[in-house]
Formats: sequence, C-alpha cells, structure tokens
Amino acid sequence: MPRNATSKTSSKSTKAAARGAKASATDAIKLLTEDHKKVSALFDEFEKMKKKGDDDEEAKQLIVETVCAELTIHAQIEEEIFYPAARDAIDDMDLLDEAEVEHASAKQLISELSAMQPGDELYDAKFTVLGEYVKHHVEEEEKEMFPKVKKSDLDLEELGAELEQRKMELREELGLVSDDDELEDEEGSATKSTSRKNVH
Ligand SMILES: [Fe+2]
Repeated sequence: MPRNATSKTSSKSTKAAARGAKASATDAIKLLTEDHKKVSALFDEFEKMKKKGDDDEEAKQLIVETVCAELTIHAQIEEEIFYPAARDAIDDMDLLDEAEVEHASAKQLISELSAMQPGDELYDAKFTVLGEYVKHHVEEEEKEMFPKVKKSDLDLEELGAELEQRKMELREELGLVSDDDELEDEEGSATKSTSRKNVH
C-alpha cells in the first residue's frame, strides 16, 4: 500500500499553526516588515507635524509613546527569537552583531524620551534621531539580513508564529491593546509571564 501523503505533515508546522492560529498567514519576515512600516509611518507623521509647526503636544506625545512601545517590543522579539535563529541559519555574524549594537543605541534614546515631556528642549530632536536609527535598522534588515534569512532553510512560518505569540505577551505586559487584537480576556491574562518585565 502506498504511503499516505498525510504522513508527511510535519509536527513543526502543526505546532506553529496551533500557536499562531490567529496569524497563520504571517511569516517572520512579513511580521517584522509590518512592524517597520508601522513605526516608519508614525515617524513620518511626526516629521510632518514638525515641518508644519504643529505643536499639538498631546498628539506628539501619543506618537512618541506608541513608537517607543512598538520599538521596545520589536527589539525584544528580534533579540529573543529572530536574531538567535538567524545566527544559526546565516553566515554573517557581523550583520547580527551590528544589529544588536544598534538596538542598544535605540533603547538608550527610548529610555531618555520616556523620561521627557513634549516641549522639553531636545524632545523633538531625540525622536528625530531615533527615527534615523530606525531608518538605518530597517534598511540593513530589509536589504541585507532578510534576503539572507529567506535563502536559508529557516522555517519562517514557525518563527513568525513564535514572534507573534511573544509579541502578544509583551503587549499585555506593557498594557497595550491594539484595535485589531482583542486582548480583553481578563481570565487568560493571569497566565502571562511577569518575571520578564525588564523592558524599560
Ligand atoms: Fe527590525
């Protein structure tokens, strides 16, 4: 009797599908690229406000807080999950070392910004410089790192599911609820990790 094709279903992808049911169509690179787009659009919005001389401090603060929270989560899922997987899969340690160093610089600015108010003298400047770091980060990843990762044998769907899962945990830890992810299940939130609350 011929072997049934279903026996080839990998337990890896089944596991990934179970964990990332909500984001099953998202591979790791797509997910990270979406994050890049989201924050880049917010940086653009802030720069437009600056050019127009719009000093709506509340709007500026909302942009800054959103970007800082998104970037904190983005950097953390890359450091915890994506970079270690990429290190094993691609032969370019320099690229990964540089990415981690760049994250450290961005985190420094994020922490300084979170202690400031719009209207403080270097507030706008710090956010603009953060935007420049992020632009560089996006270019390096999208033009150099991601193409190499795509060519490797990494399971991008499984990795994407892991990233999505961790992202949701971190969003909860930071008290963020996006409009498309209904995370209002208070009962379920009791299981979230509290020991990794070192994002700052
Ligand atoms: Fe990134």
